[in-house]
Amino acid sequence: MFRIAPSILSADFARLGDEVRHVIAAGADWIHFDVMDNHYVPNLTIGHGVAQALKPHLKRADGSAALLDVHLMVEPVDALAERFAEAGADLISFHPDATRHVDRTLQVIRAAGCQAGLAFNPAEPLDVLEWVIDKVDLVLIMSVNPGFGGQSFIDSALRKVERARALIERSGRDIRLEVDGGIKVDNIRRVADAGADTFVAGSAIFGRPDYAAVIRAMREQLGSTQAQRVLVA
Ligand code: DX5
Ligand code: ZN
Repeated sequence: MFRIAPSILSADFARLGDEVRHVIAAGADWIHFDVMDNHYVPNLTIGHGVAQALKPHLKRADGSAALLDVHLMVEPVDALAERFAEAGADLISFHPDATRHVDRTLQVIRAAGCQAGLAFNPAEPLDVLEWVIDKVDLVLIMSVNPGFGGQSFIDSALRKVERARALIERSGRDIRLEVDGGIKVDNIRRVADAGADTFVAGSAIFGRPDYAAVIRAMREQLGSTQAQRVLVA
């Protein structure tokens, strides 16, 4: 049920293929790929060419592959989303305020064969979700302002996760609820208790020498969340 999605924003960009293979071998479920354009956010990262180059590195030893989770912090969205779909993205998330027509952008992403995600900044309400929830595969709650790794978790995100979880349950659809920014071993459980099922972590994983130890410790925290839910039930 729970997915851990290391953000390669905090990986060594000079050795990205190695880093991706290493973190997948360490137990990553998804690879979170942060795309910043120095326009929607004040930072510049990597593009669809890098995504395409990394795609072969997502395969696991057992033949399965980690999901390529592309987080677009770019404006406008549609044309670049299509490039990322061609490059092999499995899931593409974007910010509603970065596109003129949110519903159309969701359709563009799905027509290109990808799952579509909507990302909400810390000060943004979830209002648009109500009108497009039938076209959404993932809701991404930002628990930092987008643009940089290594920032501190903003606590109000927890209330937003609870609200998003309620909207998802009400829709009856199979929609993932991902949280991004400032997630560490010591707060992942609170985020899961609020209703998240997918966790992005950049600096917490790539900032440590032993990626497997961090991912294991996160899963231990999540395991105890499940145990607690069973007890409560
Ligand atoms: C921020 C990015 C995040 C970031 C998370 O704009 O969307 O994915 O890499 O990094 P940490 O886990 O270090 O906050
Ligand atoms: Zn991200």
